[in-house]
Amino acid sequence: MAPSLFFMFCTWIVLLVMIRTPLAKPLCRPDESSALMEFKQSFKINRTTLMCVYPKFESWSLDGHGDCCSWDGVECDEATGHVIGLDLSHGCLFGTLSSNTSLFRLLHLESLNLAWNDFNSSSIPYGFGNLSQLHYLNLFSSYLLGKVPSDISRLSKLVSLDLNLGWDLEMSLDLYLGNIPKMPNIDNFIQNLTMLKELDLSFINMSSPFPHVLANFSSLKSLKLKECWLHGEFLVSIFQLPNLEALDLTYNFYLSGFIPDLHWGNPLKSLSLSETNFSGEVPISIGNLVFLKELSIGDCNFSGSLPTSMGNLSQLAHLDLSSSILHGQIPTFFANLTHLSYLDLSYNNFSGGIGHWFVNLVKLTDLNLADCQLSGPITYSFENLTQLVSLQLYYNNLQGEIPKSLWELKDLDLLDLSGNNLSGIVDLHKLKKLRMLDLSFNNISFASKAEINATLPKISYLVLYSCNLHEFPKFLAYPGRLGYIDLSHNNIEGSVPMWMWNGSRESLLYMDLSHNFLTGFDNNQINLPLPNLTYLDISSNQLKTKLPSPPPSVYYYNISYNFLIGEIQSICSGRSLVILDLSNNSLNGTIHSCVGNMDYLSFLNLRKNKLVGMIPRAYPKCCTLEIIDLSENRLQGPIPRSLANCTKLEYLNLAHNQILDGFPFWLSKLTKLKAVILKSNKFYGPIEAYQSQFNFSYMHIMDLSYNSFSGKLPCKLLQSFHAMEVITRQEWLEYMNTRATVDPSNNRSIEIVDYDMKLMNKGIEREYSKVPFALMEIDFSNNKFEGHIPNLIGDLKSLIFRNLSSNILTESLDLSRNKLSGEIPQKLAHLTFLSSFDVSNNQLAGPIPQGSQFNTFSIDSFAMNEGLCGSPLPKKCTKVGDNLPLPPFPHEKFGEASLFNSEWKFVLIGVGVGFLIGIVLGNLIIDEKSMWFLHYSERMAKEWKILGRH
Ligand SMILES: *[C@@H]1O[C@H](CO)[C@@H](O)[C@H](O)[C@H]1NC(C)=O
Ligand SMILES: *[C@@H]1O[C@H](CO)[C@@H](O)[C@H](O)[C@H]1NC(C)=O
Ligand SMILES: *[C@@H]1O[C@H](CO)[C@@H](O)[C@H](O)[C@H]1NC(C)=O
Ligand SMILES: *[C@@H]1O[C@H](CO)[C@@H](O)[C@H](O)[C@H]1NC(C)=O
Ligand SMILES: *[C@@H]1O[C@H](CO)[C@@H](O)[C@H](O)[C@H]1NC(C)=O
Repeated sequence: MAPSLFFMFCTWIVLLVMIRTPLAKPLCRPDESSALMEFKQSFKINRTTLMCVYPKFESWSLDGHGDCCSWDGVECDEATGHVIGLDLSHGCLFGTLSSNTSLFRLLHLESLNLAWNDFNSSSIPYGFGNLSQLHYLNLFSSYLLGKVPSDISRLSKLVSLDLNLGWDLEMSLDLYLGNIPKMPNIDNFIQNLTMLKELDLSFINMSSPFPHVLANFSSLKSLKLKECWLHGEFLVSIFQLPNLEALDLTYNFYLSGFIPDLHWGNPLKSLSLSETNFSGEVPISIGNLVFLKELSIGDCNFSGSLPTSMGNLSQLAHLDLSSSILHGQIPTFFANLTHLSYLDLSYNNFSGGIGHWFVNLVKLTDLNLADCQLSGPITYSFENLTQLVSLQLYYNNLQGEIPKSLWELKDLDLLDLSGNNLSGIVDLHKLKKLRMLDLSFNNISFASKAEINATLPKISYLVLYSCNLHEFPKFLAYPGRLGYIDLSHNNIEGSVPMWMWNGSRESLLYMDLSHNFLTGFDNNQINLPLPNLTYLDISSNQLKTKLPSPPPSVYYYNISYNFLIGEIQSICSGRSLVILDLSNNSLNGTIHSCVGNMDYLSFLNLRKNKLVGMIPRAYPKCCTLEIIDLSENRLQGPIPRSLANCTKLEYLNLAHNQILDGFPFWLSKLTKLKAVILKSNKFYGPIEAYQSQFNFSYMHIMDLSYNSFSGKLPCKLLQSFHAMEVITRQEWLEYMNTRATVDPSNNRSIEIVDYDMKLMNKGIEREYSKVPFALMEIDFSNNKFEGHIPNLIGDLKSLIFRNLSSNILTESLDLSRNKLSGEIPQKLAHLTFLSSFDVSNNQLAGPIPQGSQFNTFSIDSFAMNEGLCGSPLPKKCTKVGDNLPLPPFPHEKFGEASLFNSEWKFVLIGVGVGFLIGIVLGNLIIDEKSMWFLHYSERMAKEWKILGRH
């Protein structure tokens, strides 16, 4: 190359560079770069939040030329250098976004994305309105709270607005109920935002009717208003917006509407109306929505049968029609929906068999046909459904063999066939990914050969309730991570093998082996090596061992109805116990004082053992006990006064012991008491001599019978029972129970424990596992009370006639076997809901009151009173005025005949002692443990249904 030519070439390059430079990106404005720096400095970077991907602004710096246009996430205008775009999504920001944030000085911003950061529940700041050029604003999952400021509604250039602040993901109940994001006037707010194409205001509390102004938003492509507390009627014309592709109204429980039968012109791809109050039939024209990929209309009130036109929805991948009122056979057109991967038809009134349509749907990953009234055998093969991850057929009437092809589905994660009448040999060895298995209420056994080498590395939730099992499944011995196991209500005999917890020693949290025929533990080992176990139920077996020590984390420990022997000292290792039930065994020795000192104990049941000595003097100031049942033992001495520290106590049962004490008037401090049963002890002395004022406002049941109480009938005591007022507001049958809150490894859950007691019914003492809330029972019989009944009457009247709108009241009054004298007050005949009344074995005289309820009491109610006369006794009254019919009583229309007997039928049907509701609180991602807690609560609902059915 010649030198001149070279020179020219260089000049050309230099010129080119000189010309190009002003055209290259201009440097950012100093005021804007300092605003950005200030913004950066007002936040911390928190890499531990799950939303954090990459802290974009970590690299921002004013060093060097400090050109903010080159910073990560910042976009400048090519011509002016103004910052027009800022994208800090997933940017690991942590801190408060305040109204004086420097962000609001970037007046040229057109696009702002702060999604997936943690603004630490600070209020949504006022100031976005300054950014008048904004087209795009995204605050998705940024954890802001409070009222949506009105200035956002000035941003009339907005094309995309996302204020779904993420409160669905963080299921923190306190926050949720408290300071949920609010928008007082949605119509005003969106009025000027007519350019919007995308709008997401999910989880903002609007408490308003559906905003009609949206019908004018002809550009809308995506409208998401999940759980916005919308009510009233949905606007049908929204379905006709010409560009609409996605509509999500999920969880607006009070929003009514229907799917119109119209000529759909829009390219709708996704329609979600689940858990709203939409109703009606699915119209034929739905078949025109040929672009539809997702249709979720479960948990609404859709009814009728499905139109065959749905067979045209060939793109459909996700279909949820669960919990509707659909009937008829499951239509065969489903066979045409070959793109389906998620199909949920559960909880409907379909009929007939499963049908062969499903075998074509080779892309299915989730199939749920639970509680669909399906019957008959499963004759079709699952061989081609190789992608299935979740299969739920529970609570149908399916019969016959489980198809063998099911055991080939190697991607299965969840399999629930419970509540059918299926049989067969379960062969799990190919299901290496299975985590949750429920085969309850079927008749199954495990393939023994294959099983021996079937290590199931993933299984964490195993429920084989009432499966007619005769032995423990062998695969439990192999390494795994079982967290939850329920083998209750089977026919398993013999010892609990120690290999049971070889595989999952560390992971096991929940174990229910109740209602089997277990007799002990291998090698008499009573220290169960399960360090993390929180729930253990081995009740209703035939264990003839010493009391196994509760593992240290156990909060629920039920080993009642066995033949345990020896002392109960080993219970002291249960430092986490909340619910302890050792009743109906043969345990002896004394009650160790540790039982009264356990930090969390709320339910203590030692009934029907052979315990001796005194009730220990423990019960610290922070006593958490709500239920104490020490009945049917051989306990002596007085009731320890420190029990008065148990201010949450609702139920105290000391019946059938040898307790020697005066009336524990100090119990009056315990204002929540609902039932006090002191029957068959050696209590003595007058009751009201000690105290003139009692405070038993919630008392339903007081049984002082078979003691040596004396003196006047304790009227003031009765007068203090105000529970009737509460009862009459009950609209349905409820049972007396208490709720213990427990906290197993941060999953807050609530254990409901029903009162379970022996009561006199028609002269016979019977055990009831449930007691209707409406029951009132006062039993003062077999004491040495004396004096007249009349004193009592005024009090009973004030007690009972206060509010009698309900007819489910039952009341029983037993004053038999005392030394009461005088007449039975005539006015007692008006207590028409007294379903049981007994004054036998006293020294009463005069005529028995006549009328209404009194005529139904048998002769036994009045027997052994020398002076009584009139029906039902044979002895006629002779004095003038005796036995006259009563004048009509002003309140006769109240007090319908009581439903006492039908109530008791309920009591007898009632099964089970307690159950558990899991509420999962916590992290963004529901972990495995939470999953089975969720699953478990669903299962409980199921189980109750099944039990109800049998
Ligand atoms: C980071 O976030 C986690 C989870 O939200 C929180 O627990 C922690 O306190 C935060 N750390 C800092 C330094 O703010
Ligand atoms: C909407 O725009 C009109 C006209 O510009 C204005 O008068 C009105 O205040 C705006 N409404 C809201 C809520 O900003
Ligand atoms: C299913 O598809 C077949 C073949 O594509 C078609 O003939 C039939 O009409 C479709 N059925 C329904 C119910 O759409
Ligand atoms: C599974 O697919 C194969 C191949 O397409 C087919 O021959 C077979 O009939 C299918 N099985 C069922 C049960 O539909
Ligand atoms: C189980 O299978 C593995 C590999 O398939 C084999 O190594 C092991 O010996 C088998 N164990 C038994 C007890 O059969």
